[in-house]
Amino acid sequence: MITQYQAQCQARVDQALATLFQPPLADLARLYEAMRYSVMNGGKRVRPLLAYGACQALGAAPERANGAACAVELIHAYSLVHDDLPAMDDDDLRRGQPTTHKAFDEACAILAGDGLQSLAFTALTSPALGELSDATRLEMVRTLARAAGPAGMVGGQAIDLGSVGKHLDQAALERMHRHKTGALIEASVRLGALSSERADSSDLNALQAYAQAVGLAFQVQDDILDVESDTATLGKRQGADIARDKPTYPALLGLAEAKAYALELRDQALHALRPFDAAAEPLRELARYIVERRH
Ligand code: IPE
Ligand code: IPE
Ligand code: MG
Ligand code: MG
Ligand code: MG
Repeated sequence: MITQYQAQCQARVDQALATLFQPPLADLARLYEAMRYSVMNGGKRVRPLLAYGACQALGAAPERANGAACAVELIHAYSLVHDDLPAMDDDDLRRGQPTTHKAFDEACAILAGDGLQSLAFTALTSPALGELSDATRLEMVRTLARAAGPAGMVGGQAIDLGSVGKHLDQAALERMHRHKTGALIEASVRLGALSSERADSSDLNALQAYAQAVGLAFQVQDDILDVESDTATLGKRQGADIARDKPTYPALLGLAEAKAYALELRDQALHALRPFDAAAEPLRELARYIVERRH
């Protein structure tokens, strides 16, 4: 169950995102349609919410993080479009609708994903989405490029695909999850904090500890939901990990222990926020939401 505050943040990022899909030429209408289809389709917007929450935790207006919020959602949407391709997880349902390669075609989905990745950097550096110093922007570009690339999400996806049918120990599984999901979640929090232009190094360290715990908790809960939710609620196929013999936390630890671990990570995240006052309440709510969510 999301709060009214969270719904407001979702509306804010959706409004900013919608400005980014203007086709420059009529013959690109289909590509832009595929990009829009992949983004403007009811995602939970957890990464934008984390960016806004981090910006606010430092006492700045959340609107300052509009560029960051759009950028992390665009990278996330691109990662999902490619994750669902036949060469990867081969899924046909996402956010309750046919996956992009099913609604369009595979080549179009590959290009839409590529396009969304580039648009993320356009959003991050667009003056229309926030007045930030050049030094802040440079650090933001560095942060997002690292989190999205081989040292982050792409690396995690490579580990994931290389691990199908293999037994991973808990350290290896954690490494995979920290890359494929954790890196972008960490970047979301850091980009939001940088957008405030008020973060000192101790703020950034505390927020990083929060984000690391929340990032891992997020993927542990995603693995749990694959076991115990249902396709209609999830908006993606329940049981897909089991069917594909993916290494997951419930597979390694059992469902009860995986759930206990998610709660432990939530508590670690809340602990990391102890130096912050009531302005960090949205981040605290998100840590709770991430392990309680049903989809
Ligand atoms: C799903 O992410 C993929 C993972 C990284 C686990 P979300 O659960 O945030 O998906 P949407 O954006 O709400 O559809
Ligand atoms: C995807 O993880 C993580 C990405 C980087 C996209 P999953 O493969 O578990 O995500 P779902 O379950 O398909 O949403
Ligand atoms: Mg996958
Ligand atoms: Mg998948
Ligand atoms: Mg999953």
